Amino acid sequence: MSERIFVAVAWPYANGPLHLGHVAGCYLSADIFARYHRMKGNEVLMVSGSDTHGTPITIRADQEGITPEQVVDRYHAMFIDSWDKLGISFDLFTSTETANHAKVVHDVFDALYEKGFIYTDNMLLAYCSRCDRYLPDRYVEGTCPNCNNGRARGDQCDACGRTLDPQDLVEPHCSICGTTPEFRESEHFFLKLSAFEKPLLEWVEKQVHWRSNVKNFTRQFLRDGLKDRAISRDLSWGVHLPVDGYEGKRIYVWFEAVIGYLSAAVQWADENGTNWEDFWKDPETKSYYFIGKDNIPFHSIIWPAIIMAYDQGLNLPYDVPANEFLSLENQKFSTSQNWAVWVPDYLDKYDPDPLRYLLSINMPESGDSDFSWSEFVRRNNEELVATYGNLVNRVLSFTFRNFDGKVPGVESMDEVDERLLRTASETMDSVSDNLYNCKFKVAVTQAFGLAQEANRYLDTKAPWKSIKEDRELAGSSLTVAMQTINCLKAILYPFMPFSSQKVHEFLGFDGPVEQCSWDFDAAVGQIKAGANLRQPSPLYTKLDPELIDEEIHKLGIGISGE
Ligand code: MF3
Ligand code: ZN
Repeated sequence: MSERIFVAVAWPYANGPLHLGHVAGCYLSADIFARYHRMKGNEVLMVSGSDTHGTPITIRADQEGITPEQVVDRYHAMFIDSWDKLGISFDLFTSTETANHAKVVHDVFDALYEKGFIYTDNMLLAYCSRCDRYLPDRYVEGTCPNCNNGRARGDQCDACGRTLDPQDLVEPHCSICGTTPEFRESEHFFLKLSAFEKPLLEWVEKQVHWRSNVKNFTRQFLRDGLKDRAISRDLSWGVHLPVDGYEGKRIYVWFEAVIGYLSAAVQWADENGTNWEDFWKDPETKSYYFIGKDNIPFHSIIWPAIIMAYDQGLNLPYDVPANEFLSLENQKFSTSQNWAVWVPDYLDKYDPDPLRYLLSINMPESGDSDFSWSEFVRRNNEELVATYGNLVNRVLSFTFRNFDGKVPGVESMDEVDERLLRTASETMDSVSDNLYNCKFKVAVTQAFGLAQEANRYLDTKAPWKSIKEDRELAGSSLTVAMQTINCLKAILYPFMPFSSQKVHEFLGFDGPVEQCSWDFDAAVGQIKAGANLRQPSPLYTKLDPELIDEEIHKLGIGISGE
């Protein structure tokens, strides 16, 4: 029976290009998951968009002396280009700048306001007398009251992950000029999070399938107590408040950005003449939120609280498979210090699949992990070129040359053939189970194990030798190898879609590889005696180890990200 899967992916701030840390954090895992489910025949809706509001955008605009719109337009276009080249297959990648988004946000706001879950109150806001302005939360720095990190920001402490208000900070100061801000009173809208502490705790306790990092973090956060939070700001960039008399204020970026998951589904349905309710209101639909670990509380607490408060029969998250952090050559990614590999730069020089492969096998799934150029080159050369690429290339070009471009067919099978096919069948099942459960690392490792197994099989069978005495025997071995390659093409597809499409075509098939089913019998049955193959070409390119030093030398030089 086919399932319906909503794949929600964190909305990147449109204030700079993406780097590999973002890709490893959530975009790749979301894409693997979506592609897997599509191939399984499930109905998938995968959405995200540019997060266009908030101080990250206005800081950038101020730095460059351009408007926030210009910043957003530039990076939104870059994101779309990166998704395309990297193969991140969104059904819709929109932005929080659309009229549709504002409308959906206003609907939610109005409903919560009417029910008393949003109310107005006076609050203290940090005002810097030297800069002569109210300071956005992020512009206030100080010591975290929770963990004592001396570099906490007024919205969040990156060391312990707590969300904060600027006045929670010990020894607060303006991040622009260092002055201690005064706290002035101003009227704002508050979200009554406190009303959801208990229902959220009860709900979280039931999520037995959540990753332990996500569950433990969320549980602890709730046990520490939920405070009501201000959801408006004194700003001129952002979604307007749907209430008269507050023209100088805007809705706080986090409150409206998470509503993007809903507004994007509405936009997608409008554009495709279909309904969004199937993905949001059918209790059988499962929704997965792919995010980096710094975004956990917004997705496991604040967004669920808004959904509960809205009370329109919308599904709560089924899972929040947050990844941990990726480092680069054993150091934290840093945009300001240009310690980053920028996605557009990578894609100018290298193919997408080797990166997708490396970041899958090295995904920061249950702990932090590291990207290094030497590992990239090694895995590309040893694993992709020498193992999988070589398997495909030797089987297909040898067959193409010696069997007139056609599948020879299986005349007879022995134990060795049967063993390989049994492994292929078992691998298809276990990779599927693991992907279903968001265990990407082990899934790709198992899938790759089958390629290694097939290579050993080929060495044992050595059809290039047996063809001299027994053409049929050689043809059988090559056909069994091709059947295995046809399985590999399916199970490696979520990780390396471009390579799988090529293999699909080398094997003589037309159309998108995604339309193949994830099915062992089908994969074997499709390799029919007499069917035409196509002339293969190498799947991967060997990389020169010299690039390692060249790439490492570029890190940390110059200013970030253009
Ligand atoms: N823009 C945020 C970040 O990069 C993520 C927003 S996710 C959403 O940290 F929930 F707001 F959509
Ligand atoms: Zn200041």
